Amino acid sequence: MLRALFGLILLGFIGYGAFAFLWGVPAVADRPTATDAATIEEGRYLAAAADCVSCHTSDGGSNYTGGRPFDTPFGRLYSPNITPDAGTGISGMTSAEFYQIMAYGADSVLAPLYPAMPYTSFHLATRDDSDAIHAYIMSLDPVVAEKVPNELRFPFNIRPLMFGWNLLFANRGAFVPDPSRDDVWNRGAYLVTGLAHCGECHTPRNALGAMEPDAPLAGAVVGTFEAPSLTPQALADRGWSRDHLVLYFETGASPEGSAFGEMFLAVKNSLSLLTHDDRVAIATYLMDGSADAPSHGEATVAALGDSAHPNAAGQALYLSNCSLCHGPDGAGIANTMPALLGNATLAQSDGINLVQVMAQGVEGDHLNQTTGYGPMPAFRDRLTVSEFVDLSNYVREAFASNAASLPPLTEAEVAAILDK
Ligand code: HEC
Ligand code: HEC
Ligand code: HEC
Repeated sequence: MLRALFGLILLGFIGYGAFAFLWGVPAVADRPTATDAATIEEGRYLAAAADCVSCHTSDGGSNYTGGRPFDTPFGRLYSPNITPDAGTGISGMTSAEFYQIMAYGADSVLAPLYPAMPYTSFHLATRDDSDAIHAYIMSLDPVVAEKVPNELRFPFNIRPLMFGWNLLFANRGAFVPDPSRDDVWNRGAYLVTGLAHCGECHTPRNALGAMEPDAPLAGAVVGTFEAPSLTPQALADRGWSRDHLVLYFETGASPEGSAFGEMFLAVKNSLSLLTHDDRVAIATYLMDGSADAPSHGEATVAALGDSAHPNAAGQALYLSNCSLCHGPDGAGIANTMPALLGNATLAQSDGINLVQVMAQGVEGDHLNQTTGYGPMPAFRDRLTVSEFVDLSNYVREAFASNAASLPPLTEAEVAAILDK
């Protein structure tokens, strides 16, 4: 049965692959690569908005030299060196080939890229923006860095089959502004759906790894963490306001909590480097015009410190394991420990990020010398599953802004999260 299904998929892909071979990669006119300082600066800014560096840099490697691994359901892939090195980088790539990669995910019919390179979002970038990024990338110092070979399983290791995938799932359309919205909203839409590719993590994917077009930004699991839903309703339900989003994008922290893991990288290498106006545009688009959704963190139980809570086991665990840093009342310590009272991570109903943060801890996340948080210890080996359950339910009941609408987590749910 499984074999037949696999065969069918394979045949389908080969058929589509053949079709796409004829369909090909649209021709694009070449334009000279700009070398003036203003265009290069513009390209540097747009490359930050697109966060090229987070993906094209390995742990401890130098910027843009690639080698970062990406685990997909089809195997492991490594990003390439995109410095203009003649042997191992992209020195010969013209602005036309570069735009074909950004817009169509391929600069020749024989070598389509895998969608780990987010051309599935970048196709919305304008040709001018692509050219500016190209000019910036070509102005970088060339660095020798060999490509780490991919480890994809058959048949996914056959590149031309990606044309079949592209035909099924990749959109080649350009960004179309919505004339009924103002410039700020449209700028936000251009960034969120295009260059800043927020949906690549925050939009759920289908079985073949494509973003679900009908559920934009509805939330998805990325590795062991969840990139939670960013729909206006979900953001408001978790207590976000537009201003707090802007603050979070700038500093990685806000009254609704701090950015960690993949999201910290996005803040550090991208969102914090944007102009205030662009951060406002992104937040405006996400909140869909409702600028001042109530931030209702304050509305929950105030000082809990000494008063008894019905979840006595959870409260005792909290006081002995967490309150030293996050405060007995969940208020945190200004600029040092994030508050749990009103924290958006607690307001996510499936509890994935809460349980994973407790289990794995968090690395210290510093934007610079003065902004950011130190590390949080991992509790995976210090607490039993049932203690995780009591503790999770206690912090949700005591501190989540939407506590009344959160179902208690069961032992089976928590165990499943811990097993990931
Ligand atoms: C989410 C991760 C991610 C982001 C963001 C990203 N890339 Fe990539 N990129 C990749 C991966 C992975 C590949 C290799 C895909 C493959 O092997 O098929 C790649 C391939 C490429 C290639 C093809 C290189 C070659 O040798 O053919 C270029 C050029 C490129 N990226 C440029 C960029 C630029 C410029 C940006 C920012 C505008 C960017 N990428 C952002 C992951 C990313
Ligand atoms: C040694 C201090 C310390 C202890 C103990 C500690 N935490 Fe944390 N916690 C932190 C810091 C610092 C962060 C933010 C890390 C970052 O973003 O870089 C954090 C982040 C979190 C987050 C993610 C939300 C956010 O806004 O970042 C949750 C949830 C959390 N802690 C819950 C707990 C719970 C529950 C316990 C007890 C089991 C606990 N913490 C124990 C320091 C601590
Ligand atoms: C590489 C994956 C990735 C990308 C790209 C990404 N995010 Fe995230 N995001 C996450 C993960 C994982 C979390 C959960 C961790 C956390 O809360 O810090 C998160 C959390 C968030 C949160 C906090 C939600 C909450 O309620 O706690 C916001 C807001 C957010 N992302 C906005 C964005 C926006 C806007 C973009 C595009 C500019 C973006 N993200 C791009 C992975 C990503």
